[in-house]
Parts: sequence; structure tokens; C-alpha cells
Amino acid sequence: MSTPSDENSPRRAIRSYVVRAGRMGTGQVRALAELAPRWVLPFAGRAVDLSPAFGRQAPLVVEIGFGMGDATAQIAAARPDTDFLGIEVHPPGVGALLQRIEERGLGNLRIVQHDAVEVVEQMIAPASLAGVHVFFPDPWHKKRHHKRRLIQPPFVALLASRLAPGGYLHCATDWQPYAEQMLEVLSAEPLLANRFDGYAPRPDYRPLTKFENRGLKLGHGVWDLIFERPATGRP
Ligand SMILES: C[S@@+](CC[C@H](N)C(=O)[O-])C[C@H]1O[C@@H](n2cnc3c(N)ncnc32)[C@H](O)[C@@H]1O
Repeated sequence: MSTPSDENSPRRAIRSYVVRAGRMGTGQVRALAELAPRWVLPFAGRAVDLSPAFGRQAPLVVEIGFGMGDATAQIAAARPDTDFLGIEVHPPGVGALLQRIEERGLGNLRIVQHDAVEVVEQMIAPASLAGVHVFFPDPWHKKRHHKRRLIQPPFVALLASRLAPGGYLHCATDWQPYAEQMLEVLSAEPLLANRFDGYAPRPDYRPLTKFENRGLKLGHGVWDLIFERPATGRP
């Protein structure tokens, strides 16, 4: 993983993740060594036109924190006309998604292994994205850790600025207090409008993960939120 450029900056002292030394399967190690050069794009500290990396002009959706990439790969396979950029810092997850890209021949998916806040801030041009997915971001349950949550006003303002008019921001969480925070923060962002009245029904393109399915069977809730950047500010 590339080293965050401003590790010592007080502005970015609080990060939304901790990179753990988790064990990597041999397949993931091999995938990282052999497949990363083909599918992982290097972090760049400037806006990058990503269409040459995909070899075509197509709507681009960014996914932040894809974990092991189950949903990412399924969505990319189901939406071949859209390009997807998955951002993740967890090496075993990057290895796992690389394996899926190769197995399924997913030509419309690329990865950046770096802090998503810096990627969105520096690599993604304003008003350039068709969508952003943030599925089950770390809930950081303890109050003293709430400041690590991704969905807070400054990052949401940054995400909104990267959406093209008509582009959408889709968040999902299984932690109700975080869902409430998401609804409050997204509703307060002047560039965004809620596509639904409150929470959204789960759209068909977001697959149920094993973890989510298990939770739903136990009676736990899941909340989706889909906001968009209207063509001319708030309707
Ligand atoms: C709770 S997991 C959810 C993973 C996946 N989206 C899912 O639904 O299963 C959150 C993931 O976000 C990643 N993450 C958190 N903050 C990040 C950041 N700033 N940049 C990149 N990845 C981040 C973590 O490494 C972790 O894999």
C-alpha cells in the first residue's frame, strides 16, 4: 500500500480504519503479487483521468471500503456498462477481490489500495462520478471513536462535490445509530437530495452478503440511504 502522503498532518490524524496484520491466504498472496500490476492503480496526488485505465469512456462508480469485495464483484458483473473503482486499505481484501476479478473476467473493475479519503480528495476530479457506494462502513461503536466514522459532514461534502449532476451516493449500514447519523448528515448536505422519503429500499443491484443475511434472520435491521446530486442544486 502506498504511504499516506500526510501521515503526520494534524488534519488527517484521525483515520476511519486500522490496517490489521491479518493473515493472508496463499491465493490472496499470489493474487497480490501476480494480479496487482494489472488491476491495481497507483495512488496519485492529483486528479487522474481514469478512462485510459479502463480502455473506454463509461460512467464511473467508486466503492469505498469494499472489504473482501463480494458485493463489489457481483455488482461489477451485473452492470457491465459501468466502470467501478474499488478503494480499500486491507491487503487480504485487495487480494480476495483480485482473485474474483480474474476468475470472473471483470474488465470493468479496478482497485486503488490507499486511504479513500485521500483518493477521493486528490485523484477524483470534481463532478466526475456517476455514483459512490459506501456499504457497511466501520460503525466505530464506542463514543470516543465516533470521530473515526466516514460519514460525517466534511467527507460527505467532498463526496457530493465529486458526483456529476444526477450522480448518486448509496450508503448502507446495519448499525441503527450510524444509520440515523447518515440520514442526518446526508440530509444536511446542500448539494444532495434524498431519492426517497427517509431510508431507501435495498436496490436490486446491492446483493445481500452472507453476514447481512445472517443478521436479517436474527431480526437485525439494515438501512440503505440513496441520495443524489440534482442537476441544479436542491429541487
Ligand atoms: C466493516 S468493513 C465493510 C466491508 C464491505 N463494504 C462489506 O460490506 O462487507 C469496512 C471496510 O472499510 C475499509 N475502510 C475503512 N476506512 C477506509 C478508508 N478511509 N479507505 C479505504 N478503506 C477503508 C476497512 O478496511 C474495511 O475493510
